[in-house]
Amino acid sequence: MDINFEQNVNATDFAHLFLVSDKLDFPNDLIKLANSHSINLSNLAKQFNFNGKKGESFVATINNNIHIFFGIGKRSDINLDNIELLGGKCYAVMAAYKLANIAIYIDQAPLQHLENHEAAAKFASGIRLRAYRFDKYRTNQKPEDKVKLVNITFILEKAKDAQKEWKQVKLLSDAVYVARDLVCEPPNVLYPESFEERCLELKKLGVDIEVLDEEKMRSLGMNTLLGVGQGSIRESRVVVMNYKGGNKTTKPIAFLGKGVTFDSGGLSLKSAGGMEDMKYDMAGAATVTGLMHHLASRKAKVNVVGVIGLVENMPDGAAQRPSDVVVSMSGQTVEVINTDAEGRLVLADILWYTQDRYKPQFMVDLATLTGAITITFGHYYAGLFSNNDELADKLFKTSQKVSEKLWRLPLGEEYEKCLHSEIADIQHTSNEKGAGSITAAQFLHHFVNNTPWAHLDIASMAWTKKDLEISPKGPTAFGVRLLSQFVMDYYDNK
Ligand code: BES
Ligand code: ZN
Ligand code: ZN
Repeated sequence: MDINFEQNVNATDFAHLFLVSDKLDFPNDLIKLANSHSINLSNLAKQFNFNGKKGESFVATINNNIHIFFGIGKRSDINLDNIELLGGKCYAVMAAYKLANIAIYIDQAPLQHLENHEAAAKFASGIRLRAYRFDKYRTNQKPEDKVKLVNITFILEKAKDAQKEWKQVKLLSDAVYVARDLVCEPPNVLYPESFEERCLELKKLGVDIEVLDEEKMRSLGMNTLLGVGQGSIRESRVVVMNYKGGNKTTKPIAFLGKGVTFDSGGLSLKSAGGMEDMKYDMAGAATVTGLMHHLASRKAKVNVVGVIGLVENMPDGAAQRPSDVVVSMSGQTVEVINTDAEGRLVLADILWYTQDRYKPQFMVDLATLTGAITITFGHYYAGLFSNNDELADKLFKTSQKVSEKLWRLPLGEEYEKCLHSEIADIQHTSNEKGAGSITAAQFLHHFVNNTPWAHLDIASMAWTKKDLEISPKGPTAFGVRLLSQFVMDYYDNK
């Protein structure tokens, strides 16, 4: 699908789409044109029960051209932060009409309180995010199942500025696509080593890639991570993506991701129903990869290190057992209880490694860590845990801004007691029922010293089973937009 920006188009080649607020503010020229063809737009809108509410639409043929009217709700509710969501909704409407070329008119009353070229680019971004598809493995798609929409052209006075803006804004949707593509890949195709290869593509953008293989990890003492992968025929990997766009002497900021390319549960095997969902247990790692892609492609002036722990969690004669004791890289001994709580074991070693080696300003990890986070929030928020109020506040504020919502949950000594082990320094899952996401975060906290750190439990948000405004069914790439904005607002060029 092509997205363009022009001052006008040949009317007959395109269907024309107008944004209409709840004031039913149809453009005057169009009202006149419609009148001259004996069409009264307001009456027509009434017949379609169209009130200009967000997401409503109706269609009319005026002067032999198709005109679509798309409701945007209250003008004052629309701003540059949320107009992307509107673009996503609009895509769903446009796709349903099965037209090939649509011109969207932006220079109209409903958006006059915004910089129109910026609004157009953001709107386009929402369209592109919602239009995501992963058709790589379909060989027999019927023509009627294919998307008809091939060209969307925005019509506005400042078309050149919008085109320029779009070039920049598009980079973020590219990065979201990178993350979503990784999550969509089936686990027979995407496993630690093939994931590593996908990361190597970031070299083209100026990202240094360092790979820790099992031998290297063994020499570093990353036994909690290695323990998770030992039941798989696939080798485990840690990939370190280093992007140096900032001042040479500035310490990097660090993003870490859980990359379990398939989580069968290991010997604590998951039940069959829904196990296929566990291909997305690498979504945290995918988000970090997408984020690095974006920072490097937009040449952010910041030093960032992205560290992902890639393993496959499988049952096997060599697999880790419940009751095994392993020595983590930090030196703390860990009693493994339920081998399905593997994510925290992977993160434990990469958190320690990152803090020890890079002395970052802070670390943010993303992980599809617990099913319990969905019990807490449904699919509306991701969990935020932190040892640092300032970092947590910044993340929270950004999350509100970009509608990738976080809500903070506590850490503390109450939960610490739940991790008491009879045999080792710490047990890796709780002895008690309840608070599963918090005790998981509490466990992670053991592998962080004084470095400011935040943990995002994205198990509730990484995949959607229904279409969302800017995310069709499937992987959301939750965190890419959030953390890109977070870096932009607080660290880029600072
Ligand atoms: N990968 C899962 C968590 C998960 C569940 C992610 C659903 C996405 C959707 C994680 O490794 C896991 O299995 N956690 C266990 C922990 C338990 C054994 C303490 C869980 O949440 O049940
Ligand atoms: Zn698991
Ligand atoms: Zn898992």
